[in-house]
Amino acid sequence: MMFLKEDKMSENLMESSAMKTVEALLQENRIFKPSAEFVDSATLKDEKIYEEARRDRLNFWATQAEQLDWFEKWNKILEWNAPFAKWFIGGKLNASYNCLDRHIKNGMGKKTALIWEGEPGDTRVISYEEAYREVNKLANAIKALGVKKGDRVAIYMPMVPEAAFAMLACARIGAVHTVVFGGFSAEALKDRIMDAQAKLLITADGGWRRGKVVPLKEMADQAVKDCPSIKNVIVLQRTQNAVNIQQERDHWYHDVVKAAAEFCEPEKMDAEDMLFILYTSGTTGKPKGIIHTTGGYMTGVSATTRWVFDIQPRDIFWCTADVGWVTGHSYIVYGPMANAATQVMYEGSPDWPERNRFWKIIEKHQVSIFYTAPTAIRAFMKWGTQWPEGCDLSSLRLLGSVGEPINPEAWVWYYKFIGREKCPIVDTWWQTETGCILISPIASLTALKPGSATKPLPGIDVKVFTEEGGQIHQGGGYLALTAPWPSMLRGIYGDPERFRQTYWSKWHNDIYFTGDGAKLDDDGYLWLLGRVDDVMNVAGHRIGTMEIESALVDNPMVAEAAVVGIADEIKGQAIAAFVILKEGREPTSETEDILKRHVATKIGSIARPSKIIFTADVPKTRSGKIMRRLLRDVAEGRALGDVTTLADPVVIEKLKEKYQEA
Ligand code: WT7
Repeated sequence: MMFLKEDKMSENLMESSAMKTVEALLQENRIFKPSAEFVDSATLKDEKIYEEARRDRLNFWATQAEQLDWFEKWNKILEWNAPFAKWFIGGKLNASYNCLDRHIKNGMGKKTALIWEGEPGDTRVISYEEAYREVNKLANAIKALGVKKGDRVAIYMPMVPEAAFAMLACARIGAVHTVVFGGFSAEALKDRIMDAQAKLLITADGGWRRGKVVPLKEMADQAVKDCPSIKNVIVLQRTQNAVNIQQERDHWYHDVVKAAAEFCEPEKMDAEDMLFILYTSGTTGKPKGIIHTTGGYMTGVSATTRWVFDIQPRDIFWCTADVGWVTGHSYIVYGPMANAATQVMYEGSPDWPERNRFWKIIEKHQVSIFYTAPTAIRAFMKWGTQWPEGCDLSSLRLLGSVGEPINPEAWVWYYKFIGREKCPIVDTWWQTETGCILISPIASLTALKPGSATKPLPGIDVKVFTEEGGQIHQGGGYLALTAPWPSMLRGIYGDPERFRQTYWSKWHNDIYFTGDGAKLDDDGYLWLLGRVDDVMNVAGHRIGTMEIESALVDNPMVAEAAVVGIADEIKGQAIAAFVILKEGREPTSETEDILKRHVATKIGSIARPSKIIFTADVPKTRSGKIMRRLLRDVAEGRALGDVTTLADPVVIEKLKEKYQEA
């Protein structure tokens, strides 16, 4: 795989004898058929689901939508005015009602919704009834602060149950939430609040990460002082660190909830009313506010939760993502909760206090379905098998992967050392924009090939195209989605033109361009090849090269910057920045540190470059476009690719000399 330093990895694999089996498994080129044991216990046993979807896609999706509770039924399934889609027109529902009220009505109020573990080891077990009570009260509290249907609410929280309650409370009253990952900096938070014009911010004093407090409130204060749209801030007490409370504006979560009434009538939302905005990186410096609406999104996430994860009443599901990313939205909050799942939620780091924390959690809470990211799996591989081997993982029956292509070595390691050769692995491809998983095995129906996300789910039309739009039936090209699906993004907040341009202009205006490359093998299996645009995937986090470039040139020392993703054994990609300093500035290691810190302050530590390469110039095409491909060659120490379109070939030669000096 392109992102792996393969020699190094296989060297490591050869070192221990246990790992030789992984090698052997890989060499067998094995296809992993669903075991009889797994199929017996699974809900979906019949491949006809694919056929049904093919025969009548719209009615197939309508059947899925019917599994939700609607206040009023839709009168039309789809209106497709490409690239604008409306699903379940005229239908009325509420997402919070579907995640809470209906389970209580169905007698499942006592069922555990969340088994939460804080990083320091504190635990809370919360039933659906308790979650319902909390959400109702918080919804009333938010209402009392003047938030109305359609208003935007920013959420900047650690991984605590209240993060999910806050999202559901917004959904209950029809407010649009925009969750900002707690690892983002004050500036990144400010940009998102400003773009969404949020009225209220829900945050916490802090959260625990590797034994330290992440000072969320401090960062929120810095952000909010420049955000006139924010009228109130609700602060959850989590870490008990000293925080500044600004009278009038700031309110303790426990105070507002205590004062609130027990029941809040769920707003009857139109299927096409906005449920949330979630910001994600693109190819420009400015993140895009991806819009999801209520009916289609809920249909997509709840159906795929059933198909892909096969969550049954006895299961304990654990998705390790943060609620600040779409994975947390769709597969912690809305999908699993709409299916009355029992879930584990964990606040902190996988290596705290020791490198077996995840396995300890699985053992302690008897997790049966585990969903994590390849970057985490590669870190576990590096830490060694003694950590999972020391824990009882026999409760597991299904494993999942998301966020980037999973390399076959990591797949097989996951299969062997976590799944103990009895759990199928679902490699799930999707995006913030797609809302739900679109390409994935259904573990009881699909034979698995390590490293392949296999096939599109029922009701999803995927094709691989050439640059010109010719369909590829075997081989590599661009991954495209050729029919609308219910949980598709409805737009970019405040920027319909960018929406059209980014996703619907590469070929025809009814074909969605994913930004990913993919290969079809001779069995028709899909192999995802990573981004083909100026977007990086660093430890499963999506970051735009331009975003980091703008952060760098924002520093007064920097004249110009060009950023590329380079191969990294654990993170998949790491960030390398080529920087041209202004006249008179010294390219010292101190300058390097300042610039790295500057990027972390502007965006967040996930965006911190791992390498800064000072240079006098960067290679550009004659039309002035930075040639990132060549920069990647330089940064990874490879022979240069085609240089014929280069405006000034001397630039790259100098760079190579320069870099080899360093
Ligand atoms: C991009 C979307 C979907 C939730 C997490 C990331 C990459 C995601 C896979 C996978 C290969 C994958 C793609 C995609 N990606 N899952 N299973 N195999 N690549 O969401 O931040 O919106 O990023 O992540 O490149 O376009 P996101």
